[in-house]
Amino acid sequence: MSADVFQQIEDLLQEISNTQLGDAEALEAFRIRFLGSKNIVKPIFGQIRNVENERKKEFGQKVNALKQAAEAKFQSEQQQMASAAKKEKSASIDLSLPPTEEFTGSRHPISIVMNRIIGIFERIGFTVAEEREIEDDWHNFTAMNTPDDHPARDMQDTFYLKNSVERLLRTHTSSVQSRVMTSTQPPIRIIAPGRVYRNETISARSHCQFHQVEGLFIDEKVSFADMKQTLLYFAREMYGAKTDIRLRPSYFPFTEPSAEMDVYWGLQDENAYRITKGTGWLEILGCGMVDPNVLENCKIDPDKYSGYAFGMGIERQAMLLHRINDIRLLFENDVRFLKQFNGVV
Ligand code: PHE
Repeated sequence: MSADVFQQIEDLLQEISNTQLGDAEALEAFRIRFLGSKNIVKPIFGQIRNVENERKKEFGQKVNALKQAAEAKFQSEQQQMASAAKKEKSASIDLSLPPTEEFTGSRHPISIVMNRIIGIFERIGFTVAEEREIEDDWHNFTAMNTPDDHPARDMQDTFYLKNSVERLLRTHTSSVQSRVMTSTQPPIRIIAPGRVYRNETISARSHCQFHQVEGLFIDEKVSFADMKQTLLYFAREMYGAKTDIRLRPSYFPFTEPSAEMDVYWGLQDENAYRITKGTGWLEILGCGMVDPNVLENCKIDPDKYSGYAFGMGIERQAMLLHRINDIRLLFENDVRFLKQFNGVV
């Protein structure tokens, strides 16, 4: 009887050393057979009852040796398989291959230019004010001293919301002026970037949506000279330390007096001739002293306070600075176009 058990141990030892564990499946089968919860070695331990007393010690050693042999075989095979898999993986990496290009996103040229403008004004104490794009007639036009019969109110120019003459897509960021002035008392020093809409035919030079940055400064004794100095600072930060500006008289319903500001671009090449129409000067923005009617409309005392305002388009400046020749490129989001601004902030 006990001889059978000794024989069984011998056979299993033989089996352990003969078994080929070529793959993970065979390894798992081996583990279940020899080391799993219902393994084959366990019941053999129980057989000690049937072993003659003088052989019990020998029996114990043999079964333990069997168990250890199974464990040792399993561990060494498992390690071998893991290192073989690792080797195979590193062998499949071809270090001589050219790297694949990782495409990272880029800022949109409109954002690049807008952020630059905001940065320039933030450095001299302006803070950003943002407002709604769907406005009411009062904030966009009436408060801004734009009379009922003004052509800008025409359906041809303004997008009104369906079945409404009250609600519209703002036509300029000047609507932020009335929003801020009706909710804050001076001193006010804000810069308002944002998108505006006008019912214009889309072409290489104009679009029905575009971006503006508005500036508004209201305090006691603010003068035209303050505005001129601020705008000269802006032009030089934006276009270079030697940039010259000129202010030409103009008209806006919400400023009096009003002006348009040009920067001197030069006539250094054919392109400069074309974009400045042979004058060397480029129009950048509209500006002026806030009309006292506007202050009154917004419940700010015009006898105590005065201020200046300016508004500029972003698209044209982005096109100048980045040599973009068609405004539509800025709204199509063609990745081949946008990719070129990778790394520009
Ligand atoms: N809102 C004017 C425009 O859209 C620009 C402007 C703003 C002019 C502020 C003067 C003062 O053309």
